[in-house]
Amino acid sequence: MDKDYFVDYCGGGSYDENYIYHSRVVECIDLVDRLGLEMDSVLVLGAATGRVLEHFNAAWDIRPHGCEISRWAHRRIPAGYRDRIRCMDMRRYVANCVRKRKHFDLLFSNSLVYLAAAEVPEFLVQCAEVSDYFHFWSSTSEDHEPNDSYRQTLKPRAWWGERFREAGFRGTRSPYLWRTVSA
Ligand SMILES: C[S@@+](CC[C@H](N)C(=O)[O-])C[C@H]1O[C@@H](n2cnc3c(N)ncnc32)[C@H](O)[C@@H]1O
Repeated sequence: MDKDYFVDYCGGGSYDENYIYHSRVVECIDLVDRLGLEMDSVLVLGAATGRVLEHFNAAWDIRPHGCEISRWAHRRIPAGYRDRIRCMDMRRYVANCVRKRKHFDLLFSNSLVYLAAAEVPEFLVQCAEVSDYFHFWSSTSEDHEPNDSYRQTLKPRAWWGERFREAGFRGTRSPYLWRTVSA
């Protein structure tokens, strides 16, 4: 991801001014609170310029760990958060977490759309090893209109659900929050 991606984010202007309409981080926090779950640690895969990190800190007093592949975005993460966010591809980052036996209560990512479909099954197995819960949302997780040519290339929600279950996740009352059997 280069600067252009963040300067005109989703066609609406700068990322910092528009992420809130696309991220679902607010909904994630609200959902976890409604379910009465206590999260003491959060992992963010694809942290962009760090805005979502600030939400977790404000809500739960947690500075998340995680990664961001874009050097441009990573440089813009506020200093107080950047020390826990590696400038790294999430595939390598999560593999490292598995090897080092790191574990987090909640994994937040809406960036899995950038993985090739063939990579998703193994990647989700690794995610299940490092987290109890996974909040997953992206535009690609929504059911698509059959006549929408762009979205025909995207995977519908049912496809993602199958991948999460195959990887060892179980559903919750929300279609966006998955839990591992050990959670
Ligand atoms: C849709 S944006 C979401 C940003 C943020 N999570 C939010 O909710 O606003 C996707 C982010 O994931 C990053 N990203 C894409 N592929 C990645 C990868 N393989 N590893 C790490 N980060 C990645 C992008 O650079 C971008 O910052």
